[in-house]
Amino acid sequence: MPDEELMKKLVSLCKRLGFVYQSGEIYGGLQSAWDYGPLGVELKRNIENSWWNAMVRTRNDVYGVDTAIITHPEVWRASGHVEHFHDPLVDCRSCKARFRADQVEGRTCPDCGGELTEPRDFGLMFKTFMGPVEDEAAVAFLRPETCQTIFADFRNIVNSMRPGLPFGVAQIGKAFRNEITARNFIFRSREFEQMEMEYFCRPGDAAQLMEYWISERLSWYAKLGIRPSNLRLRPHGQAELAHYASACTDIEYTFPFVQGGYGELEGIACRTDYDLKAHMAASGQDLTFIDQAAGEKVVPHVIETSGGVGRTFLAVLLDSYYEDVIEGRERVVLRLSPELAPVKLAILPLSRKLEPEALAVADILRPLWPAEFDVTGSIGKRYRRMDEIGTPFCITYDFDSQQDASVTIRERDSLGQIRVPVERLVEVLSGIFARGWPD
Ligand code: GAP
Repeated sequence: MPDEELMKKLVSLCKRLGFVYQSGEIYGGLQSAWDYGPLGVELKRNIENSWWNAMVRTRNDVYGVDTAIITHPEVWRASGHVEHFHDPLVDCRSCKARFRADQVEGRTCPDCGGELTEPRDFGLMFKTFMGPVEDEAAVAFLRPETCQTIFADFRNIVNSMRPGLPFGVAQIGKAFRNEITARNFIFRSREFEQMEMEYFCRPGDAAQLMEYWISERLSWYAKLGIRPSNLRLRPHGQAELAHYASACTDIEYTFPFVQGGYGELEGIACRTDYDLKAHMAASGQDLTFIDQAAGEKVVPHVIETSGGVGRTFLAVLLDSYYEDVIEGRERVVLRLSPELAPVKLAILPLSRKLEPEALAVADILRPLWPAEFDVTGSIGKRYRRMDEIGTPFCITYDFDSQQDASVTIRERDSLGQIRVPVERLVEVLSGIFARGWPD
């Protein structure tokens, strides 16, 4: 399917089935703000939980935090964002369209061919005021990245947790950027979520740890179900590096709408000791670390892994969208992994007459897995809806179930079916969720 067509279908599926809506749609929509619907919020949380498990829960060396969105203005002065976090902007003198200067070639408008203005700097941070008086003393910023408050909290975290080097601090949360060209669905929005981890290490270990984290992060995307052949690594050239980085490699995905065919999913950067030193200088506080093992005081270097929740969500959907034909009928199927699927089980009585007995089965399963109960329409239609939202297993209660106290489990991708006694259903499903569908 041509990429453009796939993207159109996916955006429409997201709206129709409750994954993503445009925010403020009844008022014409707020450009580049998106709301996650009932299925979208589940998929998004499943992605975040998978990241949190991989980066925090299953490791001994990474701690989690959840810091404030409205941040002390000095944090952003010290970090260099007030000075450097700008994009060059150009306007078309004829049609008034606005572009990032680095995304247009020459001095003519890509939309109408009109003349473009000289580039001028446009600050990307959202500014707000704390308290009732809107003056300079009350200015605060919405964070444009989640990591900076980790650096500002560094001393507290070290004092609380007493870690040895290397160790990491991770957080998932909202970030805000007043992007000039916010477009391409949830790929570039002004409010978005990041999954970031700062790994503090001895300076001499940074290069090797950067390679380690690139490999860890690639494995995580593959585990989510993103095809490795759709990913690539792109090291940044010297001129492209952010003001804080000595090296950076992006993990890119084949987003269909991006010029050149690949767009950034995540950046893995060596931030050196830039941030801790900057906060030490600006705050006057000591943020050095006593490395007990080496018997010396150091300012640790940092390897950062910084990914976007929305971009991962989009890549997961693009890679799981399939159209196939079953018994002469077309179906759309989201081949989401059971870990990510918003609904894990559907309990479907074959007929309304079987509703009470099927509900009793649903009551057993619902406390254990996110499950839907659906009795409306033909069984074929109900299977197709479940395929379209990515539900991996449907459990059908039919007229034989009344006799043999068994139900049928249907697997979404292979369409394989197995008959299971209701009294063994939890045990069998637990095995399937842990080890996969039996061959
Ligand atoms: N702390 C480093 C940092 O913020 P970044 O490359 O600017 O680095 C990291 O952002 C990730 O955040 C990107 O790889 C992308 O997934 C996500 N991201 C950045 N800007 C975004 C936007 N406007 N909309 C959606 N996601 C965005």
